[in-house]
Amino acid sequence: MTKTPYFIIDENAIEDNLRILDDVQKKAGCRILLALKAYSMYSTFPLIRKYLYGVCASGLNEAKLGKEEFGKEVHTYSPGFTEDDFPGIMKCSSHIVFNSFSQYEKFKPMLKGKDIKVGLRVNPEKSVAGSKFGVYDPCTKDSRLGITADHFNGKSLGGITGLHFHCLCEQGVEPLEKVLKEFQKKFDPYIRKMTWVNFGGGHHITKKDYDRKKLVKLILDFKKRYPNIKQVYLEPGEAVVLNSGKMVVSVLDILHNRKEIAIVDTSIESHILDALITRKEPSPFVPEILGAGVPGEYKHDYLLGGVSCAAGDVIGEYSFRKKLKVGDKITFLDMAHYTMVKTSTFNGVNLPAIMLKGKNGKTRTIRKFGYSDFRERL
Ligand SMILES: Cc1ncc(COP(=O)(O)O)c(C=O)c1O
Repeated sequence: MTKTPYFIIDENAIEDNLRILDDVQKKAGCRILLALKAYSMYSTFPLIRKYLYGVCASGLNEAKLGKEEFGKEVHTYSPGFTEDDFPGIMKCSSHIVFNSFSQYEKFKPMLKGKDIKVGLRVNPEKSVAGSKFGVYDPCTKDSRLGITADHFNGKSLGGITGLHFHCLCEQGVEPLEKVLKEFQKKFDPYIRKMTWVNFGGGHHITKKDYDRKKLVKLILDFKKRYPNIKQVYLEPGEAVVLNSGKMVVSVLDILHNRKEIAIVDTSIESHILDALITRKEPSPFVPEILGAGVPGEYKHDYLLGGVSCAAGDVIGEYSFRKKLKVGDKITFLDMAHYTMVKTSTFNGVNLPAIMLKGKNGKTRTIRKFGYSDFRERL
């Protein structure tokens, strides 16, 4: 039995998502990339690359991983490339997307003669995130992400073949439709000069209620309107591995201070950072627990507290059917994306081990972590 805490990723669940994504690719004639920032457990890349066209990377390390372990298209975008990293990024990338004209001008001479497609990230200034996860809204006021249309005046687009936008977060097709309308309205003459467009990530395509028919129609209509566009890309992260990973932890102690408190062998700051980042949002992300409910739903309410000494290391309040006891296992659901990639060893808390349930149903340990992983990064 593996020691907790550990992530367990299910390849069959990933493949269910990949089949859905592939159906969209085929019907819409588009290409879907895996966003490595959301999920980069490369032991599953042999499966994912059977379906998807490549990856999108946020800098040199992800681009290298994409080239070495995925091996298809690598689209690299960063708000700021450095001179040190850029030669390596060029070696690994099929596409490079710049966040400003100044960055493009700076690196343009290095790109001369290279077989790399160059794009610009634009900001359609259409905020659709609403009150949900404002912290992840790329079109928020004063956003640094993407070039606004007014900055295109008088600029030469020589050498640029693609435009990229990313405006969504865990959203359906209706917000995409709104963004697309604005993108077309503001950037139409520039889109007409391009050969590819990237609609970014944040599309919850594999979610049950996602309107995939409408997505296909939107893409087909876009391609009809712009016959010059040979390739439409989408780069979701979350949708690729939605509901395909869990994190299992153990109860270490039960305390009482006004409320029942269970101490578990994880930590919000070390292992579940997304829940900390969105804590002040109007609808914060609270990780779901298998078999547990919201406070009051079942008989036994507990605050789940982490093992670090940070006062705020409280994952949330949950209710359980049975009283918790020391040694009980607790399973957090949907932990594959934006959880594993953000873990740290804050407070010396061990990183969760990584397990893989393969397509044959057998489970194997991919990695275990210990003292050296804590020590080596400091
Ligand atoms: C530029 C870009 N592309 C793709 C993604 C992936 O988004 P998601 O995992 O929500 O689909 C992100 C997420 O922040 C992003 O910033």
